[in-house]
Amino acid sequence: MTQLLITGAATADGNRTDLFVRDGVFAPPSEAGADVERIDADGLLALPGLVDLHTHLREPGREDAETVATGTAAAARGGFTAVHAMANTDPVTDTAEAAEYVLGLGEREGHCQVVPVGAVTKGLAGEELAELGLMATSRARVRMFSDDGRCVSDSLLMRRALTYARTYGGVIAQHSQDPRLAGPGACCHESEISGRLGLPGWPSQAESVIVARDVQLAELAGARLHVCHVSTAESVDVIRWAKRRGIAVTAEVTPHHLLLDTPLVEGFDTTFKVNPPLRTSEHLEAVREALADGTIDAVATDHAPHARQDKDHPFDIALPGMLGLEQALAVVAEVMVNTGRMDWPTLVERMSATPARIGRLAGQGRPVAVGEPANLVLVDPAARAVVDGAASASRSRNNPYHGRELPDPVVATIWAGTVTYRR
Ligand code: NCD
Ligand code: ZN
Repeated sequence: MTQLLITGAATADGNRTDLFVRDGVFAPPSEAGADVERIDADGLLALPGLVDLHTHLREPGREDAETVATGTAAAARGGFTAVHAMANTDPVTDTAEAAEYVLGLGEREGHCQVVPVGAVTKGLAGEELAELGLMATSRARVRMFSDDGRCVSDSLLMRRALTYARTYGGVIAQHSQDPRLAGPGACCHESEISGRLGLPGWPSQAESVIVARDVQLAELAGARLHVCHVSTAESVDVIRWAKRRGIAVTAEVTPHHLLLDTPLVEGFDTTFKVNPPLRTSEHLEAVREALADGTIDAVATDHAPHARQDKDHPFDIALPGMLGLEQALAVVAEVMVNTGRMDWPTLVERMSATPARIGRLAGQGRPVAVGEPANLVLVDPAARAVVDGAASASRSRNNPYHGRELPDPVVATIWAGTVTYRR
């Protein structure tokens, strides 16, 4: 296994440090021999590897859009050392065997740790609970369950799922979208813009009514709830209320909901079609503030690759979703750090330590320190570049940042002592 000496980097809080990577962990730099491989990290930040709670890797079933190999290569380029693989594959990850299959793909082909998410209901159909217990006690040790892409809208089923998940120390990650309020074909934030464009809209309340119901169900069940991709000011208010009340709720926001707003859909470019939809500036401000003050606990990418033939359609028919892994850190640095809303140690909390805790991942989200697992991203806080969507490691090209000037922070990623990306 690689031995690597990284010299001159600074930790998130600005302390200069040399790092020696040996046998997958950080060892005392004084023990490095003269002949070990070196990385000169002068002027760079050494941050713990990022952890994504929400990645769509599309394997099995849609390997034309992404595979475990290509999706985790994109993750490594983005500074991630672990991703949670969402269950809406074909077949759905709703059994212990399916979860172990995804785990095995990650072990054989992954450029970072792949953590299988289990479905809440069989086939994501919303009718019958999946094998939560068998998935939790399988070799895959599933701790996060989600029907993401679909909302568990049946309140009784949601209550039961929370109760079961609690038994295994698990969490239900809900895609909060009331299927009636966000009716069939809804593909845009309900606003003046959706009306003018003639696109069926969904109001922000279609999200927050589900969040309001679920935090109360979590309280009733004494269970943990995680709210996926929070996009509205009303959801933030509900989560703030629930946390004050002591309810065990955590929440994530995506990079795109921090940066991109509703007017982008005016050109009918289906790259910008996503669930939940891009919201207006007041909502963006609310989720930014919530991420800064910790009401929203984590950033999660919702990396959702789609093949061209699924995006080249009229706006209301194209599949929703956009890429996120490669530019996630860039977007959070731009929106949160470069504006003074957040410092680097807080960014590390939101993108590494806290998501690792929510997903119950030992060995991820740990400090960069002697004795800890060598999961690391080296960051140049000053570099900037124009995003070239064609240069992506992902198999898909639905990159909403293509052509945009952004920070270009990731210099190298190291997972369990192995270099998985180097610029
Ligand atoms: C996701 C997908 O494509 O699987 N799409 C999306 O618009 N976000 C599903 C999801 O995260 O809801
Ligand atoms: Zn979702």
